[in-house]
Amino acid sequence: MSMYDVEGVKQSLLKKVASSEAPREVLKSPEIRELFSAIGSLPSEERGAFGKKVNEVKVAVEAAIVAREDELESVDVEALDITAPWSANAHRPTLLPTEQGTQHPLTKELEVVVDIFTRMGFEAIESRQIDDDHHMFGALNFPEDHPARDGYDTFRTEEGFIPPAHTSTMQHRILKDGKAKLAAGEAIAAVSYGRVFRNEDVDATHEHTFYQCEGVYVSDTATLGQMIGTLRSFFETYYGQALRVKTQPAYFPFVEPGLEFAIEKPASIGGKPGEWLEMLGCGMIHPNVLEEAGIDHTKYQGFAWGGGIERLVMLKYGIEDLRHFESARLAFLRKFVS
Ligand code: PHE
Repeated sequence: MSMYDVEGVKQSLLKKVASSEAPREVLKSPEIRELFSAIGSLPSEERGAFGKKVNEVKVAVEAAIVAREDELESVDVEALDITAPWSANAHRPTLLPTEQGTQHPLTKELEVVVDIFTRMGFEAIESRQIDDDHHMFGALNFPEDHPARDGYDTFRTEEGFIPPAHTSTMQHRILKDGKAKLAAGEAIAAVSYGRVFRNEDVDATHEHTFYQCEGVYVSDTATLGQMIGTLRSFFETYYGQALRVKTQPAYFPFVEPGLEFAIEKPASIGGKPGEWLEMLGCGMIHPNVLEEAGIDHTKYQGFAWGGGIERLVMLKYGIEDLRHFESARLAFLRKFVS
């Protein structure tokens, strides 16, 4: 007589299988292993009969597993209406009444930005969303293999096209198209705005897709002082108050000198004196960039600037996380319903 309660083990295994969500796991139970290893430890005359019983347990458990697996698979699944605009089980979201549909806050603010520059006399052009290496780098005085190219974390298509990493890709076009104006004694004055793309990890202050606005001004007398005045005037109009501004040196291959333009965060939105916020990059257009567009840099000079729209808007409305813009959350969007 063996000391093993084979029948008891069988019953307990069958019970486990019947209630398991992963019945096949039951085959790995220590009880089964014990039964099998017990075979070897029995006197040889008992082994045959015992082994047969153990095998019966295994066969019974396996049959039960197959039955249980079938049962799990055939659990009733509620029909899914894939054409329904939202889950039939979820509560129906409260939608904005269509007559209150609004522009996205970024679209709205971009219009405000463009409007300010248009009133100053700048022509406004939407930027491209697919471009090439020449407009992204070559025409902007980025030498081949220059490390400054790495700073722009550009995406590329398999064919080698680039979703632009900044609106500066429009500079070369604006300059080329504007040559006739210079010849007629007028200045080139244009802003270009639109989406830009960078291969960045997304967090509260970084997005892979964001908006920029770029300005280009060229004449025979353009100066850095005019640029700073133009930018100050823009920011003061956008925020509706006088601001302290400053510049600090920065490097961009397409401007010389290159600067960062900062404003002091206004007290009216919680700023402390000396709390400077860097708003954009700017500078005098590099002679190589003018020449590349066929503009004689000994006769003409210009300035350019470019900066993100989200940052402007976040500061204006005290938005703490950039990701809200693309979240499509109605609670966020409703705050901008006017
Ligand atoms: N394109 C630059 C950037 O995105 C900003 C810039 C624009 C700097 C124009 C100088 C002149 O970082």
